Amino acid sequence: MDSRFNERRSEVGIGDALIKKMSGEYYKTQKSVNEYIHLAKGFNGSELIDKLKNVLQQHSIVLEIGSGPGTDWSILNRFYKVVGSDFSLEFLNHLRYKYPTGEFLNLDAVTLKTEQKFDGIYSNKVLHHLKDKELIESIKNQHKTLNDGGIICHSFWKGEDSEIFKGLFVNYHDKSSLRKFYEAGFDILTLDTYKEFEDGDSLLLIGKKK
Ligand SMILES: C[S@@+](CC[C@H](N)C(=O)[O-])C[C@H]1O[C@@H](n2cnc3c(N)ncnc32)[C@H](O)[C@@H]1O
Repeated sequence: MDSRFNERRSEVGIGDALIKKMSGEYYKTQKSVNEYIHLAKGFNGSELIDKLKNVLQQHSIVLEIGSGPGTDWSILNRFYKVVGSDFSLEFLNHLRYKYPTGEFLNLDAVTLKTEQKFDGIYSNKVLHHLKDKELIESIKNQHKTLNDGGIICHSFWKGEDSEIFKGLFVNYHDKSSLRKFYEAGFDILTLDTYKEFEDGDSLLLIGKKK
């Protein structure tokens, strides 16, 4: 959710009244979560998941961070034993209602407090909400949470600096900053730009635990 959201917002006709409600609590109220789910319809991470499938074998156990509406969770669920998660109780209520047989954890992306271990960790447009220090802590915790040789697959918004957009912190990254953050603990397998809304607005990083 960032300034590119404005363009998407005008395409789908989301008005200022809704935008005003996007405070820091945006992911945490029932109304705004329902609105986000509506807004995000038609978007999914299938191209990212196709790339993940090239390096992580089917039936592996995968943690998704920030499952939100659950669209990517349901795609991952076709190929993997996927455990969804979010720090928003409203999103967790939605996920548990929509996918009653699924497993969903209340996890913060920074602390990842779980005893479970995973072969893969996936997120799609979640970790850009972390400040640099939080991202570094998250990466250490991802490393701990992965089995040997485990795979990470994360998308980010590409750009410079950070901004507060309607109360939500948005941290932009480029290839060199992501490489710097991840290379101590991970071999970088893929670091590519791709298009979410416009050419080159996004980055995909896939790495293997060292
Ligand atoms: C932009 S949405 C993306 C949701 C989903 N991955 C998708 O592609 O539609 C960001 C999601 O990350 C979650 N989130 C944001 N910060 C988080 C954090 N620190 N820990 C866990 N989840 C977080 C939000 O609740 C929301 O579900």
